[in-house]
Amino acid sequence: MTEKETVVAESDYHLVYVRTPFVCLLHWVLVASVVTLALTGLYIGDPSLLAGKGEAWQTFVMAKVRFIHFFAAITLCIAMLLRLYHSFSPTTRHDIMEFMPTMANITAALKLMKFYITGEGDHAQYRYLNPLGGLSVFVMACTFVFEIATGFTLYSQQANPVFWGWMLWFPHTMEWLFRGMNNVRLLHHLVMYVLMAQVVIHIYMKIYVDIMYRESDIASIIAGYKVFHKDDIVRHTDRFAGRTWYHT
Ligand code: HEM
Ligand code: HEM
Repeated sequence: MTEKETVVAESDYHLVYVRTPFVCLLHWVLVASVVTLALTGLYIGDPSLLAGKGEAWQTFVMAKVRFIHFFAAITLCIAMLLRLYHSFSPTTRHDIMEFMPTMANITAALKLMKFYITGEGDHAQYRYLNPLGGLSVFVMACTFVFEIATGFTLYSQQANPVFWGWMLWFPHTMEWLFRGMNNVRLLHHLVMYVLMAQVVIHIYMKIYVDIMYRESDIASIIAGYKVFHKDDIVRHTDRFAGRTWYHT
């Protein structure tokens, strides 16, 4: 037996497989696109942040930044669609319902929130996504959808009507709904700050539970494995409790 095998065999902690590498990769593609969208969006909203040299037509900074914004926007859409597709596939054990605001998820999330805030009650351990994390991802996904809807509405002003005429009902409806393109643009901008706040809470929570309760969530979104004590595996609160499907 090698030294490494001895260590693992004698340990009470086990590596538990929770995510495929592709689903991990999708998370980081999403992160890269959102960070790029926020940075380029801030520039589009206030171009004095980066002036360049010479006249605007010589430097072309805005055109380049807008191109990067649209490129990141398409990347975000593709990453979201692929993750959504995976939520219905066996690779994620059809995890779509773990993100949905069902009564059961909301109740479990509130209990968990109470535990994190007060330290009272049960600390339910989940093998996969915990309901609080699931609901926060649901709220973030709704914000993405809003940004995508308002973003494409703004983009439609440059769309070629010959190709896109059949789709123009959508930006027209959005324009009517928000009383004009100015409001759509303003909301597209303001909701970015809402998203930024959600991202800060998301990252804070992941670091907090990793340090305080050793939930190893961060490792799981990078490498696809969590580390659990063998006693916790049998006590998991989700429907996968007691599965001995782990790597020793
Ligand atoms: C996380 C997602 C996104 C964030 C944070 C974001 C942020 C921003 C911000 C801050 C602006 C500047 C608004 C202003 O003028 O004050 C902007 C502009 C814009 N965004 Fe986004 N955006 C996102 C997604 C998208 C998507 C998915 C599209 C779809 C194509 C899009 C298309 C546009 C367009 C067309 C403009 C206006 C550009 C112009 O006026 O030349 N955005 N975005
Ligand atoms: C712009 C920044 C970010 C956005 C928009 C974002 C968004 C998301 C989304 C949509 C999910 C659900 C996807 C899935 O389960 O496959 C997720 C999960 C997750 N994210 Fe992020 N994320 C961001 C940054 C980060 C960072 C910096 C960390 C690490 C500290 C992180 C840690 C995690 C973890 C651990 C999960 C898995 C949830 C769990 O197992 O409970 N995220 N994130």
